[in-house]
Amino acid sequence: MIRPATIHDLGAIMALENSSFPDDAWSEQTMATEITSAHNRYFVDDEDGRVVGYGGVRALPGAPDSDIQTIALDPAFRGQGRGRRMLRLLLDQARERGARDTFLEVRDDNEVAQALYLAEGFVEIGRRPRYYKGGIDAIVMKIGLAGRAASAIESSTGWVAEPSTDWVAEPVEASPEDPSTSSGTQPRTPLEGSMDA
Ligand SMILES: CC(C)(COP(=O)(O)OP(=O)(O)OC[C@H]1O[C@@H](n2cnc3c(N)ncnc32)[C@H](O)[C@@H]1OP(=O)(O)O)[C@@H](O)C(=O)NCCC(=O)NCCS
Repeated sequence: MIRPATIHDLGAIMALENSSFPDDAWSEQTMATEITSAHNRYFVDDEDGRVVGYGGVRALPGAPDSDIQTIALDPAFRGQGRGRRMLRLLLDQARERGARDTFLEVRDDNEVAQALYLAEGFVEIGRRPRYYKGGIDAIVMKIGLAGRAASAIESSTGWVAEPSTDWVAEPVEASPEDPSTSSGTQPRTPLEGSMDA
């Protein structure tokens, strides 16, 4: 079941983060700030109490743009449609927030993620040369949310029935690396000051 992430999921999320992004994983503090930011919504894919995936979207109130911040599944749970389910839920959330478009960046060598994004209707709108460590380009993608049918995942998660999770942040200490002060998706390569999904 997909459910809203809380700060108590931080350890499990960080384990997946470090294994999924070995070269440029976010720090625990960055992830804590991400999870608890009032401008973000993070979810976990919970398999009988075990966190096997997570994803987050950022959407500021009244802003037309939103960003997929990150999405990752435990390797043992990939290829089962869980990534697509998470992505659709994140897009639902952005639309609910009032965003018109959602953006993300993906490594040029990440064919699996690209296939998912293209299949869901994202289109490539640009490239950032040598954006990631190792000189890998970022592909910038965008999807329009207008007219996009809701995925109906909310009803299966009970998300709508949980008012306490309605874009309300849990308290967390502010950090100099607070990504909530930046626009767009998160930097995984701080030197380049750029973002990743
Ligand atoms: C990218 C990721 C989130 C996709 O989640 P997933 O649960 O494995 O993907 P799904 O099972 O939902 O598959 C959705 C689509 O992704 C693509 N896909 C999935 N596995 C694939 C594979 N092994 N090869 C090629 N395409 C694949 C397909 O287009 C698939 O659609 P289809 O089943 O209709 O063909 C997951 O593989 C992952 O966690 N990767 C590591 C972290 C990462 O790269 N995150 C994205 C950063 S931008």
